[in-house]
Amino acid sequence: MRAVVLVGGFGTRLRPLTDGIPKQMLPVGHSPMIEHVVSYLASYGIEQVILSMGFRPEVFEGAYPEGQCLNIPLQYTIESEPLDTAGAIRYAIDQNGIDETFLVFNGDVLTDLNIDQLVTSHRSSGAMATIALTRVTDPGKYGVVSVDKSGKVCGFVEKPPSGEEPSNFINAGVYVLEPASLLRISSGVSASIERQVFPEMCLEGSLFAKVFDGYWIDAGTPETYLAANIDLIGGNCRRTVDPIHYRAYVDRFARVEKSVIGDSARIAAGAEVTNSLVMAGASIGEGARVDQSIVASGAVVSNGAEVTGLTVLGFETFVSSNEKLDGAKRPAIEDQV
Ligand code: GDD
Ligand code: MG
Repeated sequence: MRAVVLVGGFGTRLRPLTDGIPKQMLPVGHSPMIEHVVSYLASYGIEQVILSMGFRPEVFEGAYPEGQCLNIPLQYTIESEPLDTAGAIRYAIDQNGIDETFLVFNGDVLTDLNIDQLVTSHRSSGAMATIALTRVTDPGKYGVVSVDKSGKVCGFVEKPPSGEEPSNFINAGVYVLEPASLLRISSGVSASIERQVFPEMCLEGSLFAKVFDGYWIDAGTPETYLAANIDLIGGNCRRTVDPIHYRAYVDRFARVEKSVIGDSARIAAGAEVTNSLVMAGASIGEGARVDQSIVASGAVVSNGAEVTGLTVLGFETFVSSNEKLDGAKRPAIEDQV
């Protein structure tokens, strides 16, 4: 089976980390998010991954110039303007001549849900599309789904207002689709699968869903992106990686707890790094404190500084000695929605 992986969004909620690179190329436990997605898809026998790109496609192409990622062939499909989720899938169908049942995956989702079971459920119901569901406590941030006893979707509402969520079951961003389900929209035109295609299919009765338990996270916000990193070292998900990269330098008088420390990062004596992500090549000075924060590659936190409360330090940024940042973004984001 082929999989279309959507990686064309701007990653606005993760700015400034995504000012120059797509979120799927940000590291999760030392390797780019997309590699976790590809290795998971490969473990279910996916034979080709079609990367549906828009924003900064050259970053993917530069990282995988041979069109291969972890030995899985990659096909690049690049939109000249953002086509939104359904438009992007339709474009990928046309560009790659997809005429068989295929998988769609939101590229910022990390999960261990069982794709075989999703495909089996799709084939046995005869649905045009089958979406994987997961249960969350904050459904309003996602596509919220109601399902009848037969597994048929009777309601799909994207990011409903607080208090109006019909259930706790949300679209996990993993679908098995028949190509015909996307023929309702015109090729090359922007359209949303969540706001248009799925609600229409619900009315027709051609959309089914299957609920999954187990690990699932959408790593598209600072909070969840950080959590995805820490989950990988804490054993919350199936795979586990070493918290501290073997080429990182952590002084023996530094304290590092529940944190991912990237390749060649430096943590000086007396520094404390807790519940945080310090990416490759970043530097934390003597006596500095970093808690619940993200420090991007090449950033410098000088001696005695404090970086806390989900502060996000962008690539190559600088925090002065003894400066205190709590819940800050550097550089500041002026126009964030
Ligand atoms: N090619 C392409 N073109 N990809 C896009 C575009 C586009 O115009 N817009 C977004 N994407 C990609 C993003 O890069 C991301 O991997 C995926 O599509 C989903 O977009 P997000 O921006 O991350 O959406 P979301 O997290 O707010 O909501 C979606 O995911 C939730 C689950 O994680 C929806 O599908 C929700 O219904 C769902 O619950
Ligand atoms: Mg997302």
